[in-house]
Amino acid sequence: MKIYPEAFEIVKKFNKALQDKEFEGRVADKGINLIFLMSMVANAGDGDHIEIGTLFGASAIAAALIKKELGLGGEVYAIDPYDEETRSRNVKMMADVPELLSGSPQALKKNADLFGVKIKLIQKQSDPWPEELKDNVFVSAYIDGDHLHDMPYRDFTNLSERVSDYIGFDNYEEGYPDVLGGVSKILRENEDWVLFYKNASFLALRRRLPPRADAEMAPITAQ
Ligand SMILES: C[S@@+](CC[C@H](N)C(=O)[O-])C[C@H]1O[C@@H](n2cnc3c(N)ncnc32)[C@H](O)[C@@H]1O
Repeated sequence: MKIYPEAFEIVKKFNKALQDKEFEGRVADKGINLIFLMSMVANAGDGDHIEIGTLFGASAIAAALIKKELGLGGEVYAIDPYDEETRSRNVKMMADVPELLSGSPQALKKNADLFGVKIKLIQKQSDPWPEELKDNVFVSAYIDGDHLHDMPYRDFTNLSERVSDYIGFDNYEEGYPDVLGGVSKILRENEDWVLFYKNASFLALRRRLPPRADAEMAPITAQ
C-alpha cells in the first residue's frame, strides 16, 4: 500500500491540537494507525468512506482530512450510538482509561469543526445495519466499534456488501482476540476479500480483483 506523506502531516496537526487542548478527547496510539487508515482511504480514491465506532472522531476526521488534502471526492459517514449501554460494555474493555470513552455527538462536531470538515453521523448501533444507509455504497470502511464476540465479523459482513474496495480494522492485536478471530474467519470463509496491508494494530482487507484473464487489458503491441 502506498503510504501518503500527507498523512504524517495530518497526524502532527492532531497531536498539536491535543497538546494545545483544542481537540476534545483522545487520539489513540499517538495517531500511528491513523497514518495507515488515511493511506487506505487515499488508495481507495474518490467515493464515500464509512466507519463504525467514532468516539471523539479522530479516525473519521482523519479520513475526511486526507480526502480534502488530496482533493478526493466523497463524504465521510460515521456510525456510533453514543449510548450508556454501549459505553459500559466498552469500559470493561478499557478499564484502565474509562474517562477516555466519554465521546459524544457534540464532541465529534466540535472536533470536526476545529479541523474544518463534516462528518455524517448516524447515531445508531452498526448491527442491525441502519435503515438510512441501506442503499449507500462506499469505497472504503473502517471497523472500530464493538470489539467483542462476533461483532467484528458481523460488522464486516454488513459492510462487505456495500464496500467496493477496502475494509480496515483497528486493534488487530493480541489484546482483542475477537478481532483476530473475526479476521481469520473472514479470510477462511470469504473468497471475495484478501489481506491487503498490516502494520502496528491496523489491518486492511481488499476486495479480490478479477482474475487476469477476466480483466479488460489493453492489447500489448510490438514497438
Ligand atoms: C475505540 S472507540 C473508537 C475510536 C475512534 N475510531 C477513534 O479513532 O478515536 C469505540 C467506539 O465504538 C462505539 N461502538 C461500540 N459498539 C458499537 C456498535 N455496535 N456500533 C457502532 N459503534 C459502536 C463506542 O460507542 C465507541 O465510541
